[in-house]
Amino acid sequence: MMRTQVGIIGAGPAGLLLAHLLHLAGVDSVVIEARSRGYIEGRVRAGLLEQGSVDTLAEAGLAARLRREGLSHDGLELRFDGMSHRIDLHGLTGRRVTIYGQQEVVKDMVAARLETGRPLYFEVEDTAVHDVATAHPRITWTQEGTRQELHCDVVAGCDGFHGVSRGAIPAEVLRVYERIYPFAWLGILAQARPISHELIYARHSDGFALATMRSQTISRLYLQCAPEEDLSAWSDTRIWDALQTRLGAVNEGQILQKGVTGMRSFVAEPMRHGRLFLAGDAAHIVPPTGAKGMNLAIADVRVLARALTAFFRGEGEALMDRYSETCLSRIWKVQRFSSWMTAMLHRFDDNDPFEHRVQLAELDYVVHSQAARTALAEQYVGLPYES
Ligand code: DHB
Repeated sequence: MMRTQVGIIGAGPAGLLLAHLLHLAGVDSVVIEARSRGYIEGRVRAGLLEQGSVDTLAEAGLAARLRREGLSHDGLELRFDGMSHRIDLHGLTGRRVTIYGQQEVVKDMVAARLETGRPLYFEVEDTAVHDVATAHPRITWTQEGTRQELHCDVVAGCDGFHGVSRGAIPAEVLRVYERIYPFAWLGILAQARPISHELIYARHSDGFALATMRSQTISRLYLQCAPEEDLSAWSDTRIWDALQTRLGAVNEGQILQKGVTGMRSFVAEPMRHGRLFLAGDAAHIVPPTGAKGMNLAIADVRVLARALTAFFRGEGEALMDRYSETCLSRIWKVQRFSSWMTAMLHRFDDNDPFEHRVQLAELDYVVHSQAARTALAEQYVGLPYES
């Protein structure tokens, strides 16, 4: 039997950042993760950080390599109807975004955790959460055939959309809001020079495409595809041809990795039940357009770390009581933004012609109205934090 103050399920950006912020505040935690270290450090995910996310990581002392290797972007490009339009993010908001892969963030956070000497266990199985409605919740799991039990004051469910934590909130308490999109993204990582210094979001009659990057020599490219797309139907040639058509031009190179990302909008409320707190994808999923997933996880954890720190300092539960409400007010605005970006840029097969013309008019309006550009930009660079 082990004991800690905060039992953290999941070593993604949410769980690891929470562990680190708690460590800085002198709060003890144990982090458990179902996957191996190699898996979580190698998994290619999104890679766009809002300025506030970068600042949060920097304040936590987690941004040394990010500052050296991250690519700072002052704008982005929208392409449709054969034309390109730049959105001057920095000119419109005074803020910028940074390209830095999620798995690089995870590597930096794992290294920081190991440095503290506090526990981080990989490849745990059969994780279960117990007694969250009491002041003595527990987490149990099996590791290398041995049953483990962790007694905590608080459990943080940072175990993603498919994790077990959300299931510990009774069904009669949990409200779920969900939308599944009739398309997905096929993403590749390629040994190829990015076509542009900035990101290009393209709306084409064949479907959406996005050109982003990880470095001066590595491109990350996405294509709208069918929801259950069979990767074997996409030869390298077919992928490059489709990218060429939708983006106008691409630099080809060796494809290092391919994957299909399903698209959904999802929110589970409330994000707290008793001594269980959900953060990141365990509580909400956004479609990838605009890259808000990791940024929302970081925003949740800022609020949670502060609330838990106050609690363990004997300042009571007021911030814990407000956790769900505080996070959800940001989450719903970001849900709105992500579904709006998705609707504006994708091809909907069952679109009626009227909807299609409205979609083009929306893009035309966004790029020609300073007010509309500003609205896009201020959400893209990241809404301000509540506190
Ligand atoms: C990236 C992914 C996104 O979904 C996005 O909107 C911007 C960038 C990326 O992987 O770099």
